[in-house]
Amino acid sequence: MSESVIVNYIALLLFAGYDTSSVAITMAIEYLGELPKIYEDVLKEQLEISLSKEEGEFLHWEDIQKMKYSWNVVAETIRLFPPISGAYREALVDLKFEGYDIPKGWKLFWNAPLTQMDHNFFPDNTKFDPSRFEGAGPVPHSYVPFGGGPRMCLGKEFARLEILIYLHNIVTRFRWNLLIPDEKIIYDITPSPKKGLPIRLHPHNA
Ligand code: HEM
Repeated sequence: MSESVIVNYIALLLFAGYDTSSVAITMAIEYLGELPKIYEDVLKEQLEISLSKEEGEFLHWEDIQKMKYSWNVVAETIRLFPPISGAYREALVDLKFEGYDIPKGWKLFWNAPLTQMDHNFFPDNTKFDPSRFEGAGPVPHSYVPFGGGPRMCLGKEFARLEILIYLHNIVTRFRWNLLIPDEKIIYDITPSPKKGLPIRLHPHNA
């Protein structure tokens, strides 16, 4: 590999591994600050986990598996604000799609935000509703924040781990309110609140 290809891979891995999870956490903090009922339900789940542990004991793998509701909240967050808007695929054969002829070798861009707002799969599509992920959840390929197929995100399980551990620690220590209600979300590759999502933290034990 040439030096520029190596640099390109490293830069991509840093983006893929850092910015994505950080966007997911930021947008989850925003929704939890906006939606008190959802916050209370996440807090309840996380406190049950905390209370089942000894003082100072770290989270274990089994604890992460119990964070089902919290993960549904994150899943709904990245349905509405997918950190990556899609990626390219190459047509391996000539194909027809919705009346369009796509010749072999052409590049196609699959788009996560549009796919995940499809009314057919997500009724009342702008509503924040974590229950969409209960049971079997959305039908395959209607929900693609991590992509799909053999090139699906390699870091999905790691991302789940770091996002849930972060949420556990912040929710069990604090409530918060958003200092700029309805802060505008801008897209600079990834979605992010325009002013950096300032919040005021309120410790539970204060
Ligand atoms: C919420 C967090 C994340 C989201 C939403 C996300 C999303 C995605 C998406 C949409 C793709 C393209 C998949 C496709 O083409 O089908 C991808 C690929 C990838 N992601 Fe993630 N990602 C996240 C976290 C991470 C983390 C934490 C890492 C590494 C530590 C990571 C490493 C990668 C790598 C290496 C690829 C390229 C896989 C390949 O081309 O074979 N991602 N990710």
